[in-house]
Amino acid sequence: MSIPSKKVEIFCGTGGVGKTTLATSRAVSLAKDGKKVLLITIDPAKRLKQLLGLDNQDSGNITPVSTKTFFPDEEESSDLYALLLSPAKTLERIGTAEGLTKDLDNRILKVLTKPYGGMNEIMAVIEVQFHLSHSDYDTVILDTPPGKHFIDFLQATRKIEQFFDKSFVEIFKFLGKKVGQKSAPKKLFSKIVSTGIKKLLSYLEKVTGSDFVDLFVDAIGFLYQTKDHFTSAIEFQKELGKKDFSNWFLVTSAEHHKVGEALHLLQGAGEFMHDDNFLCVNKCHKPFLDNWHPHDTELELLKSTMLTKENELKTFAGKNFHRVLEFSEILSSKPCEHVTNLAQGWNLLRS
Ligand SMILES: Nc1ncnc2c1ncn2[C@@H]1O[C@H](COP(=O)(O)OP(=O)(O)OP(=O)(O)O)[C@@H](O)[C@H]1O
Ligand SMILES: [Mg+2]
Repeated sequence: MSIPSKKVEIFCGTGGVGKTTLATSRAVSLAKDGKKVLLITIDPAKRLKQLLGLDNQDSGNITPVSTKTFFPDEEESSDLYALLLSPAKTLERIGTAEGLTKDLDNRILKVLTKPYGGMNEIMAVIEVQFHLSHSDYDTVILDTPPGKHFIDFLQATRKIEQFFDKSFVEIFKFLGKKVGQKSAPKKLFSKIVSTGIKKLLSYLEKVTGSDFVDLFVDAIGFLYQTKDHFTSAIEFQKELGKKDFSNWFLVTSAEHHKVGEALHLLQGAGEFMHDDNFLCVNKCHKPFLDNWHPHDTELELLKSTMLTKENELKTFAGKNFHRVLEFSEILSSKPCEHVTNLAQGWNLLRS
């Protein structure tokens, strides 16, 4: 039996090791097996977009993907979908759900939900959780951004907790009133909030003018009124740590000898995952080296050095990771063909 799929499958690792390519190949391989699959990219670089031939207007919308892109001669599987995350679209969805459409024009919220505006990770968690609970996908596959950003993604719900818990509690108290009485006068504000926040806002008002303070208060008010969407995403994080719910694939590349980096990432992310995770050693050369029979002694030496290096890497991987999966270097210059070959590779693997 090939590696059983779980409800959520997460591909993470350092830059350029093949996360997007392997996540896509896994999605294609599961869809070909008859599963309904949603492939989501949290990567602001949006390489998935190029790989799947999607365009900008698809950002934030679930788009059907044809498996024929990768297997032109085989029967089409109609149950593969992709989503390029758009924090702005997520904000629009939750704002609309709460009847807050007019606040969506708020300039501060617009800046915060730009691709690098700082809310990328939090919005990603909300979006993933939403699609898991509102649709009937067999598996949702996440292609994550490299290294540090991936840890940010994992820590996002913790930040949500803090945001709605301690630091903003005072301002929420005020805004809670404001929500009830839409036209609450500004002086109500000064009565309720602590002097710290009052000071901050009066300082802001001096520097930026009262328009900005109004915008700021409206932006915070929006987040407060949509807070249930944020807090329910915390549940998703807890689920991710359960073995029967998620598969974690840490990707590394034999080409760049990056297992050490994967180990580092595992240490950073370890508290969020379970210990039944996989290390994917991508771009392995062994299959080619085994079939290469040089007659020249120098080339023979090169072959054995390369094999030794790759074996050392795999021994190291085997010692530090519960399960190691190997994927060959695909000799093609077309990223699409990398996906096709790797999708076949998933079927050959055994758990
Ligand atoms: N097994 C493979 N054989 C050959 N080329 C590969 C293989 N896996 C991935 N690649 C190629 O390596 C390059 C980087 O892959 P990819 O974009 O998937 O990496 P990534 O980890 O998602 O990068 P980033 O950190 O920038 O998101 C791409 O050109 C891809 O087609
Ligand atoms: Mg990528």
